Amino acid sequence: MTKTKSSVGIDDIAVHVPKLFISTLGEFAQARGIEPAKLARGIGVERMAVPDAHEDAATMAASSVLDLMRKNDLLPEDVGRIYIGTESGVDEAKAIGTYVIGMLERVFGPGTFQECSTVEFKSACIAATHALENVAYWLKAEEDENDFDDADGESGESRGRVGIVVATDIARYELNSPGEYTQGAGSVALLVKRNPKLLALDPVMGVFTRDENDFFRPIGMRCAVVNGKYSNLCYLAAMDGAFYSYKKKALARGMIRLAGGECTSDHLDHMIFHIPYPRMAEYAAASILRREWRDLPRWREVEEEIGPEPRSEDFSGQKERLSAEGDYKRRFSKSAKFLEAYEKMVKPSTLISSVVGNIYTGSIYLGLASLLEKNLLVPGQRIGLGSYGSGCSAAFFSGTVQPGAGSMARGEILEKLDERVEIDLADYQLLHEGERGKSVISPSGEFALVEIDGDGYRRYDLVG
Ligand code: CAA
Repeated sequence: MTKTKSSVGIDDIAVHVPKLFISTLGEFAQARGIEPAKLARGIGVERMAVPDAHEDAATMAASSVLDLMRKNDLLPEDVGRIYIGTESGVDEAKAIGTYVIGMLERVFGPGTFQECSTVEFKSACIAATHALENVAYWLKAEEDENDFDDADGESGESRGRVGIVVATDIARYELNSPGEYTQGAGSVALLVKRNPKLLALDPVMGVFTRDENDFFRPIGMRCAVVNGKYSNLCYLAAMDGAFYSYKKKALARGMIRLAGGECTSDHLDHMIFHIPYPRMAEYAAASILRREWRDLPRWREVEEEIGPEPRSEDFSGQKERLSAEGDYKRRFSKSAKFLEAYEKMVKPSTLISSVVGNIYTGSIYLGLASLLEKNLLVPGQRIGLGSYGSGCSAAFFSGTVQPGAGSMARGEILEKLDERVEIDLADYQLLHEGERGKSVISPSGEFALVEIDGDGYRRYDLVG
């Protein structure tokens, strides 16, 4: 008898964000000489999460995992993998997950995670997506192996065990730089298992990779080196490439079947992109939908409103052509047809990011959490996810919302974000530069970095 394969995907999400934030719209905007409207609308970030002196990528990761485990009544022996995506690693050799497990064992007891493996994935902001892909492969591989083992597929190392993917990062740019107003910090833990209650992953992932210098952080540097405007272009080129790769595979496999006048994105109810700042998700949507729609009957409506696309043969020089293209891009992103699709399919996913800032590899999953918080994930819907990592690579994949999504808790993340404490510019700058020795809010009932010893080993504790 042929056994039906189970689906694999995201069962639940836990988000941890520092208790401190700075508003981009008040003292910060004034001190930097920027109109608040630019930050609220042009960038889309109103508040940035700021880690306190006792927090780092490891404490944030441990906090989101603990929250996820408590919410789901998980015991350490239930967890086979903790794979962590981060570009804010605290050690060049030791996996951040070993520190995280050390912290978790302060709650669950020494040695309780010794049969759980942990790996640190680094690939800028796409790292957690590859961690997710790998945990999903682990669960599937175990199931395939079990096909040969026994009839009910209940043997094997991963039997009944789950994986946890953690995205944890601190986005830090130089003070007074254009990147500064896109900073943020936080961690997202994803429970990954068979027959998930939230999102079953589709078997197709489109990818795009090339060597770029858009954004990187050489060893020893605290802040990223950023070619800001160029990084936007690399993001768009990679996302287009990954979407094309996804589309090719999804159509070839018959996973998506197009009727006349349809395009692939018509089969996606939401598109969640990597959100370095909310406007970037808007640029990505415009770039993909323009390519998707330009050969379809609906393009006539767009042309009626904003005119035909510029053709290269109409321009004598590259400068004129690029300027006409830039102008058309802007007009398309303000067209009624695009705005209608953007408001429905993409904008709701930027909600949490607009009050947290960039959390690098976790940003795309804050997008998923935003949809969940607002009750916008309807069972049966297909969700597209576009992940981007500078340097650069992109991945586009999708999943189907499961019936269990309807009964999941919502509103808790936004409630917690409302309870945060606003700090002033002076404290923000001291924390940014690592010069505020004492925490703004002393840790209480939470994981904290308590000491870095003479060798550089970090000591963490569950404090208060
Ligand atoms: N009211 C409303 N909007 C205004 C405004 C006002 N008063 N003044 C300006 N704006 C608009 C601008 O018109 C522009 O919007 P359009 O693109 O629609 O024209 C928008 O605000 C942004 O302004 P600028 O073009 O002046 O851009 P900037 O100098 O502020 O730089 C940035 C923006 C390049 C993203 C910079 O913040 C940066 O370097 N960020 C870090 C790098 C980054 O996030 N890159 C994204 C891709 S790479 C990636 O995704 C990986 C990652 O996580 C880092």
